[in-house]
Amino acid sequence: MERQISLVKDEALAALRGAQTSAELEAIRVKYLGKKGELTLLLRGMGKVPPEERPRLGKLVNEARDELERALGEAGRKLAALEEEQRLERERVDITLPGRRPPMGHKHPLTLVLEEIKHVFRGMGFDVVQGPEVETDYYNFEALNVPKFHPARDMQDTFYITDDILLRTQTSPVQARVMEQRKPPIRIIAPGKVYRRDADVTHSPMFHQVEGLAVDKHITFGDLKGVLKVFAEELFGKDTGMRFRPSYFPFTEPSAEVDISCVMCHGEGCRVCSHSGWLEILGAGMVHPRVLEMAGYDPEEVGGFAFGMGIERIAMLKYGVDDIRLFFENDARFLTQF
Ligand code: PHE
Repeated sequence: MERQISLVKDEALAALRGAQTSAELEAIRVKYLGKKGELTLLLRGMGKVPPEERPRLGKLVNEARDELERALGEAGRKLAALEEEQRLERERVDITLPGRRPPMGHKHPLTLVLEEIKHVFRGMGFDVVQGPEVETDYYNFEALNVPKFHPARDMQDTFYITDDILLRTQTSPVQARVMEQRKPPIRIIAPGKVYRRDADVTHSPMFHQVEGLAVDKHITFGDLKGVLKVFAEELFGKDTGMRFRPSYFPFTEPSAEVDISCVMCHGEGCRVCSHSGWLEILGAGMVHPRVLEMAGYDPEEVGGFAFGMGIERIAMLKYGVDDIRLFFENDARFLTQF
């Protein structure tokens, strides 16, 4: 019996030294100290030991159990510390690694062009104002010298909401609104969305225009030319040529369509300018006396010029984009190029 006790004890301690994980430790504890563990059974077997031997042998088994328990405790703490260390090593974060940058958004090409346009005109003393996109027939047409049944209404396919309310087809109604509200001298540009029933590679049912208006005493066509020349050179470069072609708008007289020298071929002639060397970029003219009158001004006393341009068209020419729909599809592969 005595030998058996020390054998079991030595065996248990040896197994303990070889244990690598807390699971193995637990298995050893069960094997020797569990309900049917080897040392437990030895203790239970005390009943069969002759009474005079019991105190000595009982003491031996108890000592063996205490020693094993202590050893188990100690090994358990060591293993737990080791396992914790291994876990920390495994989960280690290298804080010296460079961070991952979140992709940054940026401005839409139309916003970029509009900002440039605003910057140029602000520099020449123009205020930036806005008008409503849902407009009345009066401001979109009547106040601009386009009475009902005037053939010029066919120039623009209008989205009507009611007989008198529509989606503005141009930013020109802002001219009429500003003239009503302010007194000359007036110098404003009015950017915003406009709507026409039209859709192909160069037309979108919604697009953007910038309106310009100057009203004062002694305003001449020369002022219009000077302002537009500065604009064209700032946006397209100092050597940009410019020409005015006679045209017709109901709200300006005389009226002109304004071309710049082709941004692609610089006047040589290419596919973009249909081999003419010129690109149309805006409509303009001297504010029609009827329009001034309707705004409550005396055309004998003040005069003005106005112009209107499409922002998409300017952006397409500036960036060499050949399909207007790309601006509204919001495909990141397109947008991130600007
Ligand atoms: N509103 C005109 C258009 O949309 C452009 C324009 C504005 C022409 C101001 C002359 C003066 O075509």
